[in-house]
Amino acid sequence: MRVLFLQPNYPPEMQDYTRGLAEVGAEVYGIGDTPPQALAPKVKAALKAYLQVPRIMDEDDVIARASNWLRGQEIDHVFSNWEPLVILAARMRERWGIPGMSVDVVRGFRDKDLMKARVRAAGLRTPRSRRARTKSEVWAARDEIGYPMIVKPIAGAGSADTYRVDSDAELEKVLALTAHLPEVNCEEYIDGEEFTYDTICIDGRPVYENCAQYLPKPLEARSQEWISPVVITVRDMNQPHIRKGVELGRAVLRALGMGDGFTHMEWFYNRKGEAVFGEIACRPGGAHLVDQMNFTSDIDLFREWARVVCWRRFEADATRKYNVGIIFKRAKGRGRITRIEGLEEWKRRWGPWVVVDALLRPGQVRRDWRQTLLSDGFLICRHPDWNLAKEMCFDAAIRITMYAE
Ligand SMILES: Nc1ncnc2c1ncn2[C@@H]1O[C@H](COP(=O)(O)OP(=O)(O)O)[C@@H](O)[C@H]1O
Ligand SMILES: [Mg+2]
Repeated sequence: MRVLFLQPNYPPEMQDYTRGLAEVGAEVYGIGDTPPQALAPKVKAALKAYLQVPRIMDEDDVIARASNWLRGQEIDHVFSNWEPLVILAARMRERWGIPGMSVDVVRGFRDKDLMKARVRAAGLRTPRSRRARTKSEVWAARDEIGYPMIVKPIAGAGSADTYRVDSDAELEKVLALTAHLPEVNCEEYIDGEEFTYDTICIDGRPVYENCAQYLPKPLEARSQEWISPVVITVRDMNQPHIRKGVELGRAVLRALGMGDGFTHMEWFYNRKGEAVFGEIACRPGGAHLVDQMNFTSDIDLFREWARVVCWRRFEADATRKYNVGIIFKRAKGRGRITRIEGLEEWKRRWGPWVVVDALLRPGQVRRDWRQTLLSDGFLICRHPDWNLAKEMCFDAAIRITMYAE
């Protein structure tokens, strides 16, 4: 079993998928822009061979170099678990006649407009939306959609350039703020709670499923620096509102022609009690969501994903034991972290339910909270009881303060 994986060392969680592939017995061929001497030890140990390319985003160049490099060697699979490279992986599969999702199918997971059109065509509930290339098209979209309205990029990530607009005056401002975008999506604002629906699939049928709740919604978490964003996996997936999201998610996978591998969907539970589609990607969620899923059932989905895509088997016992929360912290002030208040008390209060402390420490330089969801580090905790898990997370959000002054 020879697997080409893009790219094995970056972002950091890719290192564990590379490790997983080796653990299930694949010969792993890696392509990436990391110099070979800078590969993490576990990546080096897992790789059979590695090709460094100068520009990983230059698809034609990477395909040409890869074709040369692999000449004469049969590859069974090409995968990527990183959003910017999923199309490249599909192009390679098509070029070399390797089974797996086509470029067209993968585009349905990348282009938000095409995605919604396909999901809508299957009769599923999506926000009303319009593409707009000019200011007058945005105003026309407003006439059709009304307020509150979302204005966002066609292929954004991490809530970048995404705005909620409630009035003409605000829309004027947002038009100026988004003027650098060649095209935007205007959408009906869905008021309600926001969740993920995550899977590992074989032929578009989930062999693993997960839901997590965003507290608050990513858009709010991204617009206010004082917020400590919290995400909690939902242990009990049989609650009626969660079931609705799961049913929606399964139907979306069918509508988009999902094949094998991870998916990460976002959906809303609105005031009318409907599950409404948000967006979906054919790769795992980032920001340690896979670690949270692992802590939910004490399993290793890095390896289990590899088993699924190589051998089409899922072997872990994914019984859900905990609600697992992650709390991202942002320090007050600029520059280097100077002190942390409330952390030791929080750990004493919650004892064994705390599983990871990855906060930055005094002396370390603050990260740009707008650039990375990881902010100034995070904590992971878990509890079988949803309310206690939530209380523990909010306790960390409110009573732990990091300073950089
Ligand atoms: N139609 C909508 N109604 C309400 N909130 C939305 C809508 N579209 C986006 N958002 C908010 O903005 C966030 C980012 O939008 P999303 O489409 O997920 O793009 P990204 O690729 O940046 O994650 C969402 O997680 C959600 O909080
Ligand atoms: Mg999103």
